[in-house]
Amino acid sequence: MKRILVTGSNGLLGQKLTDLCLYDPEIELIASSKGPNRHPLRMGYIYEEMDILDPMQIQRVVEKFHPDTIINTAAMTNVDACESDKENCYKLNVETVKSLIGICEQNNIQLIHLSTDFIFDGENGPYTEDDLPNPLSYYGQTKLEAEQLLKESSCRWVILRTIIVYGIVNDMSRSNIILWAKGALEKGSPISVVDDQWRMPTLAEDLAECCLLAAKKNARGVFNASGKDMLSILELVKKVAEYWKLDQSLIKAISADSLNQTAKRPKRTGFILNKAKNELGYNPRSFEEGIAFVDAQLKAISESK
Ligand SMILES: NC(=O)c1ccc[n+]([C@@H]2O[C@H](COP(=O)([O-])OP(=O)(O)OC[C@H]3O[C@@H](n4cnc5c(N)ncnc54)[C@H](OP(=O)(O)O)[C@@H]3O)[C@@H](O)[C@H]2O)c1
Repeated sequence: MKRILVTGSNGLLGQKLTDLCLYDPEIELIASSKGPNRHPLRMGYIYEEMDILDPMQIQRVVEKFHPDTIINTAAMTNVDACESDKENCYKLNVETVKSLIGICEQNNIQLIHLSTDFIFDGENGPYTEDDLPNPLSYYGQTKLEAEQLLKESSCRWVILRTIIVYGIVNDMSRSNIILWAKGALEKGSPISVVDDQWRMPTLAEDLAECCLLAAKKNARGVFNASGKDMLSILELVKKVAEYWKLDQSLIKAISADSLNQTAKRPKRTGFILNKAKNELGYNPRSFEEGIAFVDAQLKAISESK
C-alpha cells in the first residue's frame, strides 16, 4: 500500500490522478488543492485544502498523513501570465518546490514533480532527458530552476517533463487546445492557428498513469512523459476538426511571429520517450486514440446531465 499526497488536485492532471488512485487498491490518496475540492467524487479518498505557497500548511498535512510520495502538480501554468507576473510565477513554480524539497528530505518522502518542454529553445527537438535546456520564457526559466533545485537536493526526486496536456475534468480553471478548437469550430467561429510550431500533445490520463508508475516503481531521475505523436499546432487542430467533422475552412494558418504573444514559445519541442517506456513501462496513446478518449468522456458527461 502506498500513501500518495497530490498537490493541485483540482487541476487537469490532479483530477485525473484522483480518478486513477480511486480505483487502485495499492494506493491511498490524499488529494489537496487551494480552496474547496472540485472533483465530482468525494468518497474513497481524503481531501485536504492546502495552499502550497504556505510551507506550514504542507508541514501540517504531511505530519497528519505521513505520505510515502508527493506528486506536485500545482503550478502557475499560464505561460503569458508568468511573463507578466514574474513575482507570483517565481513563488509558485520555484519557492514552493524549495519548501516541498525540505519537507521531503526531512521525512524521507519521494517527490514527483512535473516539468515542461518549455525548458528547451525548440531548435533541436525532439529532446532526450540529457539535452541541454535553454528556456525562452520566464515560465520555462522557473520550471528549469525548480528542476535544478531537485537535482541538487538529497530527497528521492523524480522529474516528469510533459507537453501540451489535454483532456476534460470537472470545473476546469483553464481550457486546453482540444476543447478550445472544438468549441470555437462548433460555434462556427474562424480560428487562427500557428503552422510553424511542433509539439507532442499528452492525454492527461496518460500523464497521470506515468506519475503512478514512477511512484510504484520508486523511480528516481528525469523522465520524458509526453504523447507519442509529433504534430504542428495546425495539424493538431485539423485532426480535432476531422474527428468531430467540423468545418476545416474556418481554420486559418498563421506564423507564430504574427501572434505577438507575451511569452516566446519554442519552435519544435517533442520528446524521445524510450527511457520512460523502458524503465517505467509508460505506454501513451496515439493522438487519435486520445481524442477518441476525450470524446467518450464528453458523451458520458452530456448523458449524465
Ligand atoms: N497543461 C499543460 O499543457 C502542461 C504542459 C507542460 C507541463 N505542465 C506541467 O504539468 C503540471 C500540471 O499541469 P495542469 O495542466 O494539471 O495544471 P492546472 O490544470 O493549471 O492545475 C494546477 C492546479 O494547481 C492549483 N494551484 C494553484 N496554486 C496553488 C496553490 N498555491 N496551492 C495549491 N494548489 C494550487 C490550481 O488551482 P486552481 O484551479 O484553483 O487555480 C490548479 O487546480 C504543472 O506543473 C505544469 O507546469 C503542464
